[in-house]
Amino acid sequence: MRETVLVSGGAGYIGSILVRLLLERGFRVKVLDNLTFGGVPIIDLMNNDDFLFLKGDVRSEGDIRKALQGVDYVVHLAAIVGDPACAKEPELARSINLEGSKRMYDLANELGVKRFVFASTCSNYGKMENPDSFVNEDSTLAPVSLYAETKVAVEQYLLSQSHTNACKPTSLRFSTVYGLSPRPRFDLTVNEFTKELALGRELVVFGEQFWRPYCHVVDLCRSVIAVLEAEEEKVAFDVFNVGDTKENYQKQMIVDEIVKQLPGSRIRYVTKNEDPRDYRVSFEKIKERLGFTITKTVPDGIRQIIQVVTDGFIPDPDTKEYRNS
Ligand SMILES: NC(=O)c1ccc[n+]([C@@H]2O[C@H](COP(=O)([O-])OP(=O)(O)OC[C@H]3O[C@@H](n4cnc5c(N)ncnc54)[C@H](O)[C@@H]3O)[C@@H](O)[C@H]2O)c1
Repeated sequence: MRETVLVSGGAGYIGSILVRLLLERGFRVKVLDNLTFGGVPIIDLMNNDDFLFLKGDVRSEGDIRKALQGVDYVVHLAAIVGDPACAKEPELARSINLEGSKRMYDLANELGVKRFVFASTCSNYGKMENPDSFVNEDSTLAPVSLYAETKVAVEQYLLSQSHTNACKPTSLRFSTVYGLSPRPRFDLTVNEFTKELALGRELVVFGEQFWRPYCHVVDLCRSVIAVLEAEEEKVAFDVFNVGDTKENYQKQMIVDEIVKQLPGSRIRYVTKNEDPRDYRVSFEKIKERLGFTITKTVPDGIRQIIQVVTDGFIPDPDTKEYRNS
């Protein structure tokens, strides 16, 4: 019997790639999404007999129960995503990211779903105590935003569950994502910087010394599949950083990579007391435990964005549909 995966938030930037990879891999896929950004990124999948879309909200018990019928695995992506979006609507962010996520897990467990993969974030590390070292899954979490606070709280909730529960949770702390998807996002560092410079604009950069890890959206989705296909004891009630240790960059280094491909770009560095996230992350655990390695690097993502922007794939990449805040 082929297994069925429910992807909440499956119409989003990451979800619209993940559902395609899952279908290619032979899974049946259901998506539960309220279509905050519309459904065009998955519209073609409505022709696929292995795909089922349910419009609904992860805060609604009725919608979740309906979506969970006949489901083996849940990948929970639906959220208010990013620090600015959560800061703008804190109550909504708490109810979706925190309460919605807990409800999703509780009902998945009640209905006998086998696994629950939670989309968390490396933002949970906040500001590193020692800027010369790498944080790993056992390091102290120091969230500096409501967004990361909700992710930390859900991780803790999942880890506190009884190991006898039918539904085995795994939290994945994603690196900052970049690259192309049917729902492009131009509010993520690599994508945004590249887009601005590819359009010939001056790029204003603050916090250029801050470290952060980056991962291509396709590789990130491959990690989710690696978790779903791993033996249960390797992933149950555990947390993994997702990315590659070599893909930690300071913002300045991202700019340098873009300038290599767009020589003559204009950059202005400014001082701004904002976004104090600064972390260098080790990804050895997912590599050693699951054999997970990446297939794309930041320069590959930059190349893709330059081509899409300069060839005119997207008539107006500045519109708000490509941003989460
Ligand atoms: N993009 C990144 O850099 C990044 C990094 C770390 C973690 N993550 C996590 O990955 C997940 C997906 O992020 P993304 O970049 O694809 O974001 P996205 O905003 O493109 O996708 C989120 C999807 O969730 C849906 N959604 C939002 N609220 C909902 C609700 N109440 N009920 C049902 N559906 C709802 C939206 O319609 C959207 O399709 C999120 O949980 C995010 O926190 C993303």
